[in-house]
Amino acid sequence: MSQRTLVLLKPDAVRRGLVGEILSRFETKGLALVALELRHIDAAQADAHYAEHVERDFYPPLRDFVTSGPLLAAVLEGDEAIEVVRALNGATDGRKAAPGTIRGDLSLSNRENLVHGSDGPESAEREIALWFPALDA
Ligand code: CMP
Repeated sequence: MSQRTLVLLKPDAVRRGLVGEILSRFETKGLALVALELRHIDAAQADAHYAEHVERDFYPPLRDFVTSGPLLAAVLEGDEAIEVVRALNGATDGRKAAPGTIRGDLSLSNRENLVHGSDGPESAEREIALWFPALDA
């Protein structure tokens, strides 16, 4: 079933010059780019995106990180896109993520882990509406 998912290439990906490498992995897999925008978000947008994490101990430094510089927000589309993107991203902690995944190959951090992908159909719908409100469903 074709799905859309919200992907962020976080500020570490932009700072480290890995945008081309990461987008290439999604494109060569066969996912289609539906929307793409470079954004430097404020704390309110970070809080809205990470609403389920705002009370967690790890959240304040995460907010500082995601607001620390421009990031690339994207909507990707394809068969089972939500699961496919999560598999390509790898486990949250780059130190534990499997080799061959984006985080496993390119990140050594649990926080600065380069990418975000929606974790299910409901969060994909919520996150796409939050980041790209003008996009047709
Ligand atoms: P993401 O997939 O964007 O979802 C939540 C983010 O919080 C996660 O990627 C990491 O960037 C960050 N994160 C999750 N758990 C931790 C943790 N224990 N310590 C630091 N950052 C975390």
